[in-house]
Amino acid sequence: MAQASNAPAELPTEEELGRAGLKLAVEGHVARITISRPERRNAMTGRTWRTLAHIGHALPEDVRIVVLSGEGDTFSAGIDLQMFTPEGVDGEKSMVAGILEGTSTDQDVEDYVEELQQGFLWLRRPDLVTVAAVRGHAIGAGFQLALSCDIRILGDDAKFTMKEPALGLVPDLTGTKPLVDIVGVHRAIEICLTARRVEAAEARELGLAELVVPADELPGAVDDVVAALLATNPEAATATKALLQQAARNTLEEQAAAERRAQVGRLRALASALGAQQ
Ligand code: ACO
Repeated sequence: MAQASNAPAELPTEEELGRAGLKLAVEGHVARITISRPERRNAMTGRTWRTLAHIGHALPEDVRIVVLSGEGDTFSAGIDLQMFTPEGVDGEKSMVAGILEGTSTDQDVEDYVEELQQGFLWLRRPDLVTVAAVRGHAIGAGFQLALSCDIRILGDDAKFTMKEPALGLVPDLTGTKPLVDIVGVHRAIEICLTARRVEAAEARELGLAELVVPADELPGAVDDVVAALLATNPEAATATKALLQQAARNTLEEQAAAERRAQVGRLRALASALGAQQ
């Protein structure tokens, strides 16, 4: 997983962000990333995901919250379908050209997908809380991007679709694990293998949305959640997210031990703050 410690010093330039179809605003503890290719319903390319990974590496250390949204009334129509043509998109490598030409080995293809996955993996970092603010369609890679975030807040016009199997593909941008973790394997099979739309109300019922609000109230609802997240202690928030992330794979005994270990650090920090006051 991407770590802040190997950070390049600089965030992507405006020009790099523009070519990737992204906008970025960092203000204090909050970074807001907007997928911005409205004329393509915010479809994303390899460049989008490499630039997302770059942002993750280069965020200032005091950023605690990342909010991801789409320009206008669509989150994202998923991968730019031109990525599957031999020509690719706008100077961006095609997903299939190397295979068609016989120059890509299986390992080359895996390496390429691994590179793209980096744009999604960093959103799980325990020192950040990542929030997807979703209006309209979140299809394929767009759904997987929302699934990569810790919290999904939906406008009531939001619709999730895992379109990949309908296109002859598997979802490969790190979305299958959170989907199964949230809805269970049987519902995940049904959602993916029918490639049907999951509308906002059902997403709320399934646990795919933490909150659903009228679409025009989405920015305000996101701001309220961000304010509440910022009100907690940053180190405790990081330690708690790390604990919660391991809970599902730990036995009760392992999790209890992890809680004890994490609390030692927290109590030491509290004691040293008390000591400094005396
Ligand atoms: N890639 C490239 N261009 C796209 C994409 C996409 N994924 N989605 C939309 N566009 C383009 C359309 O081609 C159209 O371009 P044009 O104006 O030059 O004709 C423009 O965006 C607007 O799209 P419409 O289809 O006219 O918009 P509408 O609101 O009717 O429908 C919807 C929106 C539902 C998102 C539809 O465009 C769609 O189904 N897109 C394809 C979704 C898809 O299959 N994504 C890939 C999933 S798999 C994965 O992500 C790995």
